[in-house]
Amino acid sequence: MARRERAERYPVAVIGPGALGSLFAARLARVVPTAVVGRRTLEVPQADWVIVLVKAYDTPAALRTARRMRPLGIVSLQNGLIPSVPQGVTTAAAYREGRRVVPVATGSTLLPPGFGTLGKYLRKAGFEARVARDIRQARLRKLLANVCLNPVTALFRVRNGAVREPPYAILAEALAGEAAPVLRAEGLAITPTEAVRVVMEVARTTARNRSSMLQDVLAGRRTENDHLTGALLRMARRHRLAAPTHAAFYRLIRVMERGLEWSRQRRM
Ligand SMILES: NC(=O)c1ccc[n+]([C@@H]2O[C@H](COP(=O)([O-])OP(=O)(O)OC[C@H]3O[C@@H](n4cnc5c(N)ncnc54)[C@H](OP(=O)(O)O)[C@@H]3O)[C@@H](O)[C@H]2O)c1
Repeated sequence: MARRERAERYPVAVIGPGALGSLFAARLARVVPTAVVGRRTLEVPQADWVIVLVKAYDTPAALRTARRMRPLGIVSLQNGLIPSVPQGVTTAAAYREGRRVVPVATGSTLLPPGFGTLGKYLRKAGFEARVARDIRQARLRKLLANVCLNPVTALFRVRNGAVREPPYAILAEALAGEAAPVLRAEGLAITPTEAVRVVMEVARTTARNRSSMLQDVLAGRRTENDHLTGALLRMARRHRLAAPTHAAFYRLIRVMERGLEWSRQRRM
């Protein structure tokens, strides 16, 4: 990573040197000075464009750091709906294997309006990236795939492709069918049938992948349940729509997380 004097501004900073943050930062650093800011970074650099890539539940602390950088813009490329920051959407993927980061795909990245300069840096770094005027639609569509694939794959410890087949397909279909009216009420033009099609298509194109929630469960880490299924349930409540299958998965994942936490504490 480029090292600069403290007083200089970096064109780009990435907060969260984990799987996806490292993938973005490593490629960006080849074409533009890029600061990488971890949890324990002591001197916070100043930067123009800040990309937030911590887990959703670590966002408040990351945003406090981001604001200290006096940036022109802060954008989150995290999963889940995070109302406190402009959010883009990415299908780039990477995972951690011990201390090593394994890149899976540079994918395609949509940025909210106002982040054209960052988009140029990303394209120069080899990412397919552009500003999307309808970014909210893209975020809701990503949420749809996440809330239908993540809980099923995490609970039954299967890869994404398994969701297209019995016995799991029926669960993903129920989740997609329930999510459609909720997301429609939020502005995503989608029917239950289309929602099932979208989810099954994502499961097909990512068949070999382990979802982020499955990876978290396998590593004994906290999941982003609250910002994925939890976000959908909050929307459903707001629109007075029923989402009983999502509610059941939300509780099951919470119970599983607590079980993992409990066994970790017993081992200590
Ligand atoms: N991985 C993917 O393929 C992928 C794809 C699409 C979207 N996403 C989304 O991208 C986000 C990041 O995912 P990830 O897989 O990269 O997670 P990750 O590997 O767990 O990385 C998160 C990183 O953020 C660091 N961090 C936590 N709090 C911080 C803070 N206050 N300041 C600076 N750094 C902090 C963590 O440090 P510690 O290790 O010390 O906790 C860790 O290095 C998530 O919302 C995820 O859903 C990931």
